Amino acid sequence: MELNIRNLVVIAHIDHGKSTLADRMLEITGTVETRLMKPQYLDSLELERERGITIKMAPVRMNYEYSGRDYILNLIDTPGHSDFSYEVSRALAAVEGAILLVDATQGIQAQTLANFENAKKANLKIIGAVNKVDAANKERISETVKEVSELIGADENEILKVSGKTGEGVEELLKRIISEIPEPKIGKSDYSRALIFDSFYHDHKGIIAFVRVFDGKFEQAKGARLFATNAEFKIKEIGFFAPELKISGILENGNIGYIATGLKDSDKLKIGDTIGIQTHKSKIEPLLGYEEVKPVVFVSFYPEESGDYDDLKQALGQLKLNDSALFFEPDFNQILGRGFKGGFLGRLHFEITADRLAREFKINTVHSFPSVSYQIKLRNDGWLPITNPKDFTEDVVEVLEPMTKIEILTPPEYLGPVLQLKEFFRFDGIEVKTSGNKALITAKLPLADLISDLDDKLKSVSEGFASLSYEMSEMERADLEKMEILVASHIVPGLTRIIPKKFSTREARRTVEKLRELLPRQQFAQAIQARVSGRIVARETIPALRKDVTGYLYGGDRTRKMKLWKKQQKGKKRLKEMSVKQQVKIPANIFKELLKK
Ligand code: GTP
Repeated sequence: MELNIRNLVVIAHIDHGKSTLADRMLEITGTVETRLMKPQYLDSLELERERGITIKMAPVRMNYEYSGRDYILNLIDTPGHSDFSYEVSRALAAVEGAILLVDATQGIQAQTLANFENAKKANLKIIGAVNKVDAANKERISETVKEVSELIGADENEILKVSGKTGEGVEELLKRIISEIPEPKIGKSDYSRALIFDSFYHDHKGIIAFVRVFDGKFEQAKGARLFATNAEFKIKEIGFFAPELKISGILENGNIGYIATGLKDSDKLKIGDTIGIQTHKSKIEPLLGYEEVKPVVFVSFYPEESGDYDDLKQALGQLKLNDSALFFEPDFNQILGRGFKGGFLGRLHFEITADRLAREFKINTVHSFPSVSYQIKLRNDGWLPITNPKDFTEDVVEVLEPMTKIEILTPPEYLGPVLQLKEFFRFDGIEVKTSGNKALITAKLPLADLISDLDDKLKSVSEGFASLSYEMSEMERADLEKMEILVASHIVPGLTRIIPKKFSTREARRTVEKLRELLPRQQFAQAIQARVSGRIVARETIPALRKDVTGYLYGGDRTRKMKLWKKQQKGKKRLKEMSVKQQVKIPANIFKELLKK
């Protein structure tokens, strides 16, 4: 018997129009009423709507009639940015097909290539579609169609031309989904297994697991269990994504939906784990889960209000349920107090997490500079990993740093300016291949450079036309040193960084200059110094606040004035001593400003 289900993802480079295309599908299939429709409907987080980017994958079930039969289409909208590629890879494991969407006005971009490779590895049926045909001329559209057909190895006439804005070609796309994407393979029926590909915390229903059923079926009120943690629970509610949670009471073989577990403890549920039925316990093995994802960027963060520490801890636990790539452990900073060291998949991932903490949990945080994980060799000792720059002591004799393989795709006219970025970033082994109107640059680049501001610089030198994608590679030897910042002769803990030797003087100057602009004046002058490998290499002074204590004494009472000036000097000295004792307070917003490069 044919199963009337099709499971698929939409994958594309950032902003190529996945969420807008999904809007049209939701309308055509009557999933969302027209009067309730709003742009990028599936981007439900406030942050996604404000920034105009997708951060989380979003599943939705649509019903569609084709050739007299009713079909269920389970579509998962995915994020486009490299930092969220783990979201995409988890969605790929829950479906049989993918729409690879390419913006006609831009053509193939770096993340198009990366997404295509991943979909191919996951053995998915790939349908190529060129989007935004309403905004491009005929020539651009045919060029893009040609690029996509060459990439996926299909005939040009198989590449669909669509517009998520006007709806052109979207009905045709729905038909192609049904006729070309394979129906889900039906697994066993004597036991039940479902893969958890995402989750979130619901105040009343407990942890909600997003699942793809691979064997058997799941029903409301039945006893279920999780393989990784052995946690058992009664299915509190079961249903599908409409895209809001909609109760159906049952999830059949091959389908995608949710299971409300009623569990409250965020440690009980692991993404990639299998849900089974309690009574089938002895018979079955878990499904193949996901490779454990490793954080590569580390940032310590602290609540702005120190009383928020426990709330921050709880919030991070709940966020982790909805973001399985988030890692954290307790941390302490002399100035900022108790906080957490977080591990992330990239800089944007970290920024988004801080933003979600502020919006969804109302907790503002202050953070250190993002760092990567180094391997250091100490004199007379072995190798050890460090992620906190302060552990880079004078005994370090060798350092290994994480590297990436980076791909930059740019129109050839920007090749020159893009290659000039070598002055600021440590590219190595650069190779350039040009074909048609695209040049592909491949190179090695330290991860630390990638997470500084390469993305922004690339966009600015190419007027927005170049794009990049990357993957992690082996660690390599590096020439690095530690830079500390001192204010009034005291090290400011969160500002210590590990930087390349060749850029250290420039970086030291830049940092002290920026701090001089940002730090508020005090009653006394303050020196700001950058110390690199034990030597002061840059220095600035913030002048003292001038306060005219004698202003009210007009006339020539010189002795009285002298007396007041003396008193003021004494006061300043005391203030200075006090502030040195307490260490200089760096206001939270200044850390934030410094992080903005
Ligand atoms: P991310 O998930 O953040 O990677 O973005 P996305 O791929 O989901 O793109 P989104 O749907 O958010 O669209 C990005 C921008 O392109 C928005 O400004 C849309 O209005 C615009 N856009 C999307 N589809 C079309 C289209 O068919 N034609 C035109 N002219 N603009 C479009």
